Amino acid sequence: PRIAVIVVAAGSGARLGADGPKAFVGIDEHTILHHALQGVFAAPAAQVVIVAPAGREGDALTDARAVAGDRADLVTVTTGGSTRQESVAAGLAVLWGDVDIVLVHDAARALTPPEVFARVADAVASGRGAVLPVLPVVDTVKRVDDDEVRAAVDRDELAAAQTPQGFRRELLVSAYRGAAQEFTDDAALVAAAGHQVFTVAGDERAFKITTPADLERARTTLHPAAQ
Ligand code: CTP
Ligand code: MG
Repeated sequence: PRIAVIVVAAGSGARLGADGPKAFVGIDEHTILHHALQGVFAAPAAQVVIVAPAGREGDALTDARAVAGDRADLVTVTTGGSTRQESVAAGLAVLWGDVDIVLVHDAARALTPPEVFARVADAVASGRGAVLPVLPVVDTVKRVDDDEVRAAVDRDELAAAQTPQGFRRELLVSAYRGAAQEFTDDAALVAAAGHQVFTVAGDERAFKITTPADLERARTTLHPAAQ
């Protein structure tokens, strides 16, 4: 199968609160996007679409060239929208004709190891139409209404969703075409379109860099001795 990875990197990163868009914030000497692309290029991708913030397309291409080496011709950079969903749609619009599996990945999950891409891609290649990596929920979770606890929720019924989420191309494209509202992730959008969604094992290292504490976690993960 021909696999494309869409890396959504067009967010502003309001919760991180850096000077510029999150994807170009440095973890070490390399940006969040650069690290994310290292995992992406370790996977057998036939096309890598980077969805960049408006005006930062050139910077995205610079990071891509540094990581891709002689596979830089696989890279397509396009401009994102004002929501993640619009950014994914922008990525879908520039897929090459011969791609049949699409993995959608958050650049903010910068340290996602290659095995996660492989697990998701393999599950789609073996016939699952929609696949997402998950981790067990470790906290005890309550259903609340304002300050009142309504119910305990059985942890065994819950899983935390990560990316890359993988799909048969036609399924994802048709679900996006029909989407009439905003969804929190691609799997939710596809499920709302009536498709079954399956899970594979996620990875702790695929955590999303959202806050300054997450950025610190990424730094100490990469360079444990430097703290
Ligand atoms: N994203 C995007 N386009 C948007 C919003 C988000 O491509 N309009 C991407 C982000 O770049 C990120 C991923 O979606 O890689 C997950 O989003 P999130 O972690 O929420 O990033 P931001 O939206 O940038 O952060 P915040 O919500 O704190 O502003
Ligand atoms: Mg956001």
